[in-house]
Amino acid sequence: MKIRILQATDIPALMQFELDNRAWFEQFIYGRGDAFYTRQGIVQHVEECLNHFKAGLMYPALILDDGDAMIGRINLRHIDKEKSRADLGYRLASRAAGRGLATVAVQQILQHARNELSLAQIDAYVTVDNPASSRVLSKNGFRLQQSVKEMSVINGLTLDGYHYVRTL
Ligand SMILES: CC(C)(COP(=O)(O)OP(=O)(O)OC[C@H]1O[C@@H](n2cnc3c(N)ncnc32)[C@H](O)[C@@H]1OP(=O)(O)O)[C@@H](O)C(=O)NCCC(=O)NCCS
Repeated sequence: MKIRILQATDIPALMQFELDNRAWFEQFIYGRGDAFYTRQGIVQHVEECLNHFKAGLMYPALILDDGDAMIGRINLRHIDKEKSRADLGYRLASRAAGRGLATVAVQQILQHARNELSLAQIDAYVTVDNPASSRVLSKNGFRLQQSVKEMSVINGLTLDGYHYVRTL
Protein backbone atom coordinates (compact mmCIF):
# COMPACT_ATOMS: atom_id res chain seq x y z
CA MET A 1 0.00 0.00 0.00
CA LYS A 2 0.97 3.66 -0.31
CA ILE A 3 -0.41 7.11 0.32
CA ARG A 4 -0.51 9.91 -2.23
CA ILE A 5 -1.99 13.39 -2.55
CA LEU A 6 -5.66 13.69 -3.65
CA GLN A 7 -6.18 14.88 -7.26
CA ALA A 8 -9.20 16.26 -9.15
CA THR A 9 -9.16 13.12 -11.33
CA ASP A 10 -9.95 11.03 -8.21
CA ILE A 11 -13.52 12.39 -8.02
CA PRO A 12 -15.35 9.32 -9.51
CA ALA A 13 -13.40 6.82 -7.37
CA LEU A 14 -13.77 9.02 -4.29
CA MET A 15 -17.54 9.20 -4.77
CA GLN A 16 -17.78 5.41 -5.02
CA PHE A 17 -15.55 5.00 -1.94
CA GLU A 18 -17.67 7.40 0.13
CA LEU A 19 -20.98 5.83 -1.00
CA ASP A 20 -19.79 2.24 -0.44
CA ASN A 21 -18.58 3.01 3.08
CA ARG A 22 -21.09 5.60 4.33
CA ALA A 23 -22.86 3.31 6.81
CA TRP A 24 -19.52 1.92 8.06
CA PHE A 25 -18.02 5.39 8.65
CA GLU A 26 -21.16 6.70 10.32
CA GLN A 27 -20.76 4.07 13.05
CA PHE A 28 -17.56 5.85 14.12
CA ILE A 29 -17.49 9.45 12.91
CA TYR A 30 -19.92 12.36 12.40
CA GLY A 31 -22.35 11.97 9.48
CA ARG A 32 -21.74 14.34 6.57
CA GLY A 33 -25.37 14.62 5.45
CA ASP A 34 -27.05 13.64 2.18
CA ALA A 35 -25.79 16.65 0.15
CA PHE A 36 -22.19 15.42 0.49
CA TYR A 37 -23.07 12.13 -1.26
CA THR A 38 -23.98 13.75 -4.59
CA ARG A 39 -21.70 14.45 -7.57
CA GLN A 40 -21.89 18.18 -6.74
CA GLY A 41 -21.16 17.55 -3.06
CA ILE A 42 -18.06 15.48 -3.82
CA VAL A 43 -16.78 17.95 -6.46
CA GLN A 44 -17.18 20.81 -3.97
CA HIS A 45 -15.44 18.79 -1.24
CA VAL A 46 -12.45 17.97 -3.49
CA GLU A 47 -12.19 21.63 -4.58
CA GLU A 48 -12.12 22.70 -0.92
CA CYS A 49 -9.45 20.13 -0.07
CA LEU A 50 -7.27 21.18 -3.03
CA ASN A 51 -7.69 24.89 -2.26
CA HIS A 52 -6.65 24.26 1.34
CA PHE A 53 -3.71 22.21 0.07
CA LYS A 54 -2.57 25.06 -2.21
CA ALA A 55 -2.86 27.47 0.72
CA GLY A 56 -0.67 25.18 2.84
CA LEU A 57 -3.46 24.49 5.32
CA MET A 58 -4.12 20.83 4.51
CA TYR A 59 -2.43 17.68 3.21
CA PRO A 60 -5.31 15.59 1.78
CA ALA A 61 -4.15 12.08 0.87
CA LEU A 62 -5.54 8.78 -0.35
CA ILE A 63 -4.58 5.32 0.85
CA LEU A 64 -4.14 3.02 -2.17
CA ASP A 65 -3.73 -0.75 -2.28
CA ASP A 66 -1.00 -2.49 -4.30
CA GLY A 67 -3.21 -2.31 -7.41
CA ASP A 68 -3.67 1.47 -6.90
CA ALA A 69 -7.35 1.11 -5.85
CA MET A 70 -8.59 3.61 -3.27
CA ILE A 71 -8.99 1.91 0.11
CA GLY A 72 -8.86 4.86 2.45
CA ARG A 73 -8.23 8.49 3.16
CA ILE A 74 -5.76 10.17 5.49
CA ASN A 75 -5.49 13.91 6.00
CA LEU A 76 -3.55 16.54 7.88
CA ARG A 77 -5.82 19.53 8.54
CA HIS A 78 -5.46 22.92 10.18
CA ILE A 79 -1.76 22.98 9.33
CA ASP A 80 -0.24 25.84 11.31
CA LYS A 81 3.25 26.68 10.04
CA GLU A 82 3.94 29.14 12.89
CA LYS A 83 3.14 26.56 15.55
CA SER A 84 4.51 23.70 13.38
CA ARG A 85 1.43 21.57 14.06
CA ALA A 86 -1.59 19.90 12.37
CA ASP A 87 -4.59 17.62 13.10
CA LEU A 88 -4.63 14.04 11.78
CA GLY A 89 -7.68 12.12 10.49
CA TYR A 90 -8.02 8.80 8.64
CA ARG A 91 -10.61 6.29 7.42
CA LEU A 92 -10.24 2.82 5.92
CA ALA A 93 -12.84 1.07 3.72
CA SER A 94 -14.56 -1.66 5.73
CA ARG A 95 -13.19 -4.31 3.33
CA ALA A 96 -9.61 -3.12 4.02
CA ALA A 97 -9.85 -2.80 7.82
CA GLY A 98 -8.21 -5.17 10.29
CA ARG A 99 -5.00 -5.77 8.30
CA GLY A 100 -2.66 -3.19 9.80
CA LEU A 101 -3.07 -0.75 6.89
CA ALA A 102 -4.14 2.30 8.94
CA THR A 103 -1.07 1.85 11.12
CA VAL A 104 1.22 1.93 8.07
CA ALA A 105 -0.66 4.89 6.51
CA VAL A 106 -0.25 6.91 9.73
CA GLN A 107 3.44 5.99 9.83
CA GLN A 108 3.83 7.27 6.24
CA ILE A 109 1.99 10.57 6.80
CA LEU A 110 4.02 11.23 9.96
CA GLN A 111 7.20 10.87 7.87
CA HIS A 112 5.79 13.31 5.33
CA ALA A 113 4.76 15.74 8.10
CA ARG A 114 8.25 15.73 9.56
CA ASN A 115 10.40 15.57 6.42
CA GLU A 116 8.40 17.55 3.83
CA LEU A 117 6.18 19.84 5.92
CA SER A 118 8.65 20.40 8.80
CA LEU A 119 5.92 19.93 11.41
CA ALA A 120 6.84 19.22 15.02
CA GLN A 121 3.51 18.13 16.52
CA ILE A 122 0.45 16.18 15.30
CA ASP A 123 -2.84 16.09 17.24
CA ALA A 124 -5.57 13.46 16.86
CA TYR A 125 -9.04 13.03 18.40
CA VAL A 126 -10.83 9.69 18.91
CA THR A 127 -14.14 8.85 20.60
CA VAL A 128 -14.17 6.46 23.56
CA ASP A 129 -16.09 4.00 21.34
CA ASN A 130 -13.26 3.59 18.81
CA PRO A 131 -10.54 1.47 20.46
CA ALA A 132 -9.13 0.37 17.06
CA SER A 133 -8.35 3.98 16.19
CA SER A 134 -6.80 4.64 19.63
CA ARG A 135 -4.63 1.58 19.08
CA VAL A 136 -3.48 2.85 15.65
CA LEU A 137 -2.33 6.06 17.35
CA SER A 138 -0.59 4.28 20.25
CA LYS A 139 1.27 2.03 17.80
CA ASN A 140 2.53 5.21 16.09
CA GLY A 141 3.89 6.80 19.24
CA PHE A 142 0.97 9.10 20.09
CA ARG A 143 0.50 9.82 23.79
CA LEU A 144 -2.84 10.48 25.48
CA GLN A 145 -2.94 14.21 26.27
CA GLN A 146 -6.39 14.52 27.85
CA SER A 147 -9.97 13.25 27.89
CA VAL A 148 -12.51 15.44 26.09
CA LYS A 149 -16.09 15.66 27.41
CA GLU A 150 -18.89 15.47 24.82
CA MET A 151 -16.46 15.43 21.89
CA SER A 152 -18.68 14.17 19.10
CA VAL A 153 -22.27 13.29 18.18
CA ILE A 154 -22.49 9.92 16.40
CA ASN A 155 -25.81 8.40 15.39
CA GLY A 156 -27.53 10.81 17.79
CA LEU A 157 -25.33 9.80 20.73
CA THR A 158 -23.03 12.34 22.37
CA LEU A 159 -19.70 10.64 23.04
CA ASP A 160 -16.68 11.62 25.10
CA GLY A 161 -13.28 11.26 23.50
CA TYR A 162 -9.52 11.42 23.79
CA HIS A 163 -7.00 13.95 22.54
CA TYR A 164 -3.73 12.32 21.49
CA VAL A 165 -0.45 14.08 20.65
CA ARG A 166 2.61 12.93 18.72
CA THR A 167 5.82 14.95 18.84
CA LEU A 168 7.91 14.59 15.68
C1 LIG B 1 -10.09 2.80 12.88
C2 LIG B 1 -9.52 2.28 11.57
C3 LIG B 1 -8.82 3.43 10.85
C4 LIG B 1 -8.51 1.18 11.89
O1 LIG B 1 -7.94 0.74 10.66
P1 LIG B 1 -7.18 -0.68 10.56
O2 LIG B 1 -6.45 -0.70 9.28
O3 LIG B 1 -8.16 -1.75 10.84
O4 LIG B 1 -6.18 -0.54 11.80
P2 LIG B 1 -4.91 -1.50 12.06
O5 LIG B 1 -5.23 -2.86 11.56
O6 LIG B 1 -3.69 -0.80 11.53
O7 LIG B 1 -4.80 -1.48 13.65
C5 LIG B 1 -5.94 -1.69 14.46
C6 LIG B 1 -5.50 -2.11 15.84
O8 LIG B 1 -6.63 -2.01 16.73
C7 LIG B 1 -6.87 -3.27 17.33
N1 LIG B 1 -8.30 -3.37 17.56
C8 LIG B 1 -9.27 -3.56 16.64
N2 LIG B 1 -10.47 -3.59 17.26
C9 LIG B 1 -10.24 -3.37 18.57
C10 LIG B 1 -11.08 -3.31 19.70
N3 LIG B 1 -12.41 -3.43 19.61
N4 LIG B 1 -10.50 -3.08 20.91
C11 LIG B 1 -9.16 -2.93 21.03
N5 LIG B 1 -8.31 -3.00 19.97
C12 LIG B 1 -8.85 -3.23 18.76
C13 LIG B 1 -6.33 -4.28 16.35
O9 LIG B 1 -6.10 -5.53 16.98
C14 LIG B 1 -5.05 -3.55 15.91
O10 LIG B 1 -4.05 -3.60 16.93
P3 LIG B 1 -2.84 -4.70 16.92
O11 LIG B 1 -2.06 -4.44 15.67
O12 LIG B 1 -2.10 -4.41 18.16
O13 LIG B 1 -3.49 -6.05 16.88
C15 LIG B 1 -10.63 1.70 10.65
O14 LIG B 1 -11.32 0.71 11.36
C16 LIG B 1 -11.62 2.74 10.17
O15 LIG B 1 -11.36 3.44 9.20
N6 LIG B 1 -12.78 2.84 10.85
C17 LIG B 1 -13.85 3.75 10.40
C18 LIG B 1 -13.45 5.24 10.44
C19 LIG B 1 -12.73 5.63 11.71
O16 LIG B 1 -13.08 5.22 12.79
N7 LIG B 1 -11.70 6.48 11.56
C20 LIG B 1 -10.93 6.98 12.71
C21 LIG B 1 -11.61 8.11 13.34
S1 LIG B 1 -10.67 8.73 14.75
